[in-house]
Amino acid sequence: MKRAIKPIALLATAITFTSAAFADGHLSREQSSAIEARQSHMQLMLFNFGPIAAMAQDKAPYDSARAAQAAANLAAVAGLDHTGYWIEGTDSSVGGNRAKAEIWTDLDGLIEANQALVTSTTALADVAGDGIDALKAAFGPVGKSCGDCHETYRTPRN
Ligand code: HEC
Repeated sequence: MKRAIKPIALLATAITFTSAAFADGHLSREQSSAIEARQSHMQLMLFNFGPIAAMAQDKAPYDSARAAQAAANLAAVAGLDHTGYWIEGTDSSVGGNRAKAEIWTDLDGLIEANQALVTSTTALADVAGDGIDALKAAFGPVGKSCGDCHETYRTPRN
């Protein structure tokens, strides 16, 4: 009976995938892709932030090369201009995303919050390979930059 189950599982995966990207059938292709792009940007940051956070919190052994590489990636992604992500009609009210309406009344504030991340990730990238103490000291401001922006511009998980 395994054969009968497989296509259903595949279909369920396809539906989940589609509904995340197109939670609201009224979104244009441009709106959907802006939401996907900014969420992918965030996922790329998380992917590189994760190993550094684990080292900074003594949950993984310090690895100089890995820390340096992840920090360089994180700084590179943080530095991407993302003004194009916040197009009209894509706040959390349309579903499938957690962008607060405040972004559209205070885009300058969001850009400033991102600038804080650029500064802290650049400082981290400069020292991440120089030992665990240097990494720990530079990691705090990065976590704070992520958290500050989320607090102001991201809706709580429901
Ligand atoms: C300038 C503001 C800002 C900064 C800085 C920021 N984020 Fe975000 N983040 C957001 C917003 C807004 C959302 C919600 C976007 C959406 O749902 O479309 C988000 C969503 C996310 C998500 C969920 C993405 C998804 O797939 O739905 C992750 C993961 C994330 N951020 C990680 C990070 C990490 C890690 C950092 C720091 C290295 C960071 N963010 C820094 C604004 C920011």
